[in-house]
Amino acid sequence: MNYRGLPSGTLTFLFTDIEGSTKLLNALGTDRFHEVLATHTQTLRAAFAAGTEVRIDGDALFLVFDSAAAAIRATAAAQRALASTEFPHEAVVRVRMGMHTGQGTPASREAGADYVGIDVHRAARIANIAHGGQVLVSGATATLAGQDLGVGIALRDLGEHRLKDLAQPERVYQLVIAGLPNDFPPVRSLDRTPNNFPTQVTTFIGRAPEIRDGLRLLDSTRLLTLTGPGGTGKTRLSLQLAAEAATSFPDGAFWVPLAPISDPELVPSTIAHALGVHIGGKEDPLERVLEHVRGKRMLLVLDNFEQILPAASSVSALLGSGPDLKVIASSRAPLRVSGEQEFPVPPLELPDPERLPSLDVLAQSDAVKLFIERARAVKPDFMVTAENAAAVAEICYRLDGLPLALELAAARVKLLSPQAMLPRLKKGLDLLASTSPDRVDRQRTLRGAVAWSYDLLDDGLKRLFARGGVFVNGAMLEQIEVVCGPASESAGRARGAGAPGKRSAALAGPRRARARQHALRSRARDLQSECRCCVPPRLRALALLAGPRLSARRIGLGGARARSHGR
Ligand SMILES: Nc1ncnc2c1ncn2[C@@H]1O[C@H](COP(=O)(O)OP(=O)(O)OP(=O)(O)O)[C@@H](O)[C@H]1O
Ligand SMILES: [Mg+2]
Repeated sequence: MNYRGLPSGTLTFLFTDIEGSTKLLNALGTDRFHEVLATHTQTLRAAFAAGTEVRIDGDALFLVFDSAAAAIRATAAAQRALASTEFPHEAVVRVRMGMHTGQGTPASREAGADYVGIDVHRAARIANIAHGGQVLVSGATATLAGQDLGVGIALRDLGEHRLKDLAQPERVYQLVIAGLPNDFPPVRSLDRTPNNFPTQVTTFIGRAPEIRDGLRLLDSTRLLTLTGPGGTGKTRLSLQLAAEAATSFPDGAFWVPLAPISDPELVPSTIAHALGVHIGGKEDPLERVLEHVRGKRMLLVLDNFEQILPAASSVSALLGSGPDLKVIASSRAPLRVSGEQEFPVPPLELPDPERLPSLDVLAQSDAVKLFIERARAVKPDFMVTAENAAAVAEICYRLDGLPLALELAAARVKLLSPQAMLPRLKKGLDLLASTSPDRVDRQRTLRGAVAWSYDLLDDGLKRLFARGGVFVNGAMLEQIEVVCGPASESAGRARGAGAPGKRSAALAGPRRARARQHALRSRARDLQSECRCCVPPRLRALALLAGPRLSARRIGLGGARARSHGR
């Protein structure tokens, strides 16, 4: 038990909410809706007496039960009670319920959260695919409950379903409750929408504000481009956004991985392949794709666009094919086509190593969460303790919350404690290298991630980049002109690097000013010292590439905010 009396250990997490509550609120008005809500909450609380109420948020309840069977019996009792309750104002109230059993550890008062962990998310995801009046149960809960379900309650196997977390499909069972309607439309899982989303073998961490903002932007735009430096999580976030939004696209949501191609001409046939469109010998791939998507409500995720930016015209053509096609692009540089909405992806939220919070507050920071999760993949008993907390926080800070860097560092925990890793990271980042066959080449090292961007620059920008290394703390345009040459040659190019057609990929930067970009800066510095352009060796350090928050803002590069490119 913790300070709120919340239990820990193997628990069944139950989530409930009213289907169509916003509609009900609009129909009834606030006061009458509150009366309905009060009856609903009272009815559920009575039925859920065997559990512990963790949180109530409007019409949404979150409870935990010590026993899977008790949770199942309680939900059946709740649905029966709801069905026999007369709600004020003749309101029809249908509540969806979903549960999953797993490990739960309540957080402290200071951490402000209740339960954390993947099993809690899974339970919420299961509740999310239920219809009003339906109770869904994960395979784990069904197994644990066994035959101990109670009178008039049975389980119906609904088969495997993909949830929006893009993890392995989950076997889902529905409660069949005698005397209540038990036939519902197909569950609202990802499988309802045709899609080719790749299964993720690792958990998705944090990003709640980015998902919320991204979905809001996607509502009002047809081309949403997630930008940011290598390894900041653009691909992962774009897939998650697409999974969240998928059910609004009945004709499908498709992921088009573009990183393997470098020839813009190949973009239409790569899209065709992802959509399963066959291209005959003499057919024009773009024409075939346009024909296929015309009039459809479809979402495309064009992933890793930076190396084929000239193909942005194909994206314009796609958007012109009809009003119901939307595109999420991930790219280190914006596509710069009409109607584009840029969405710079910040690094993960960081702890402040100078003001270390308590251990469980620290473990709530997204960067630390990612580090812990990936460290546990190689060392299952890894924990943040009083001994290693400061080192973990400092590692996350030095790596700027950059997901790729955090993953590469966490994989080293098998051999090095965080305390032993930190001094090595301070000397250089060569430690951050992976031999895992799952990683694409460009993400095996941080150097590779930076070099991928650097290689996309033309000679002039490479020169500018190298000379920019003299500016330790960023620079004003006039200062850049002095060091890098007249405006037409360099500083002007710096400003223009964000202009249409120019490859500002390497220069685009995330928005949080707090982080210091040690990681990318250090890698970029290495690259700069390898460049043949002459940079006096004593004037080391900041690369425009690596210090986007410092320099980009001053010279007008990169994006501090989401920007749209209307014409
Ligand atoms: N929110 C997240 N939760 C869990 N893992 C993440 C998250 N964001 C990124 N990662 C992981 O970090 C690594 C880098 O992320 P990702 O490939 O999305 O970066 P990117 O910005 O698309 O990089 P690139 O510019 O090289 O394409 C991947 O292994 C990814 O799974
Ligand atoms: Mg990517």
